[in-house]
Amino acid sequence: MPLPLFSPYLSDYLDNLVPSRPEEMQRMEDLAKQTDFPIIGPASGYFCYLVARLIGARRVFEMGSGYGYSTAWFARAVQENGGGQVFHVGWDAALSEQARRHLSLLGYEEVITYRVGEAVQTLRETEGPFDLIFNDIDKIGYPESLPVIEQKLRPGGVLILDNMLWNGRVLDPSDNSPSTQAIRQATRYLTQSSDWIAMIVPIRDGLMVAVRK
Ligand SMILES: C[S@@+](CC[C@H](N)C(=O)[O-])C[C@H]1O[C@@H](n2cnc3c(N)ncnc32)[C@H](O)[C@@H]1O
Repeated sequence: MPLPLFSPYLSDYLDNLVPSRPEEMQRMEDLAKQTDFPIIGPASGYFCYLVARLIGARRVFEMGSGYGYSTAWFARAVQENGGGQVFHVGWDAALSEQARRHLSLLGYEEVITYRVGEAVQTLRETEGPFDLIFNDIDKIGYPESLPVIEQKLRPGGVLILDNMLWNGRVLDPSDNSPSTQAIRQATRYLTQSSDWIAMIVPIRDGLMVAVRK
């Protein structure tokens, strides 16, 4: 059973710290609310943008891109870092088409490469290295994605994984569902491996930020 980790007041407070966005991004946020689509939301999106700016990311690979809301934050960072490439990857062709419409209206087309397919397999087939990899696929896939990510991220590169608090379920010892177990397994691996420096930042549903040593 989910544990109530965050008050809605805190979430609203953090979201309201994010500076105003282009209208098209706000439309994407409204659409997520109307359709209950799980975008990362303003505070996590802005945090991802901040990390990508901090490390001067020019090559970003996104796993599980949906209709492109998180992609927009990475594309903005890459453009401001001087240009580069952001991979938008998901297995749903209709969402990929929808993302093209939003992201071209935002003026990010020149930095985005679209791939429709399973994200771990697509990463395997794509030439690295990447400065930043963002992982938001089905949680059951997190553990198996890590060896591929390790191969494709440059030393000093950053991995960000979403939903690492899983609505409090990771803290509930009676919750042993496959997705919860998969998140715990990925968390153990990244926090205990001598190849990574990693911690969960408790914004929204928990973003794990991990640096490959
Ligand atoms: C949480 S949503 C993405 C939200 C997006 N990152 C955002 O914040 O705007 C995850 C998306 O990835 C897709 N997906 C899940 N697992 C996947 C996988 N293994 N390979 C490709 N796409 C996947 C889902 O169908 C869904 O569209």
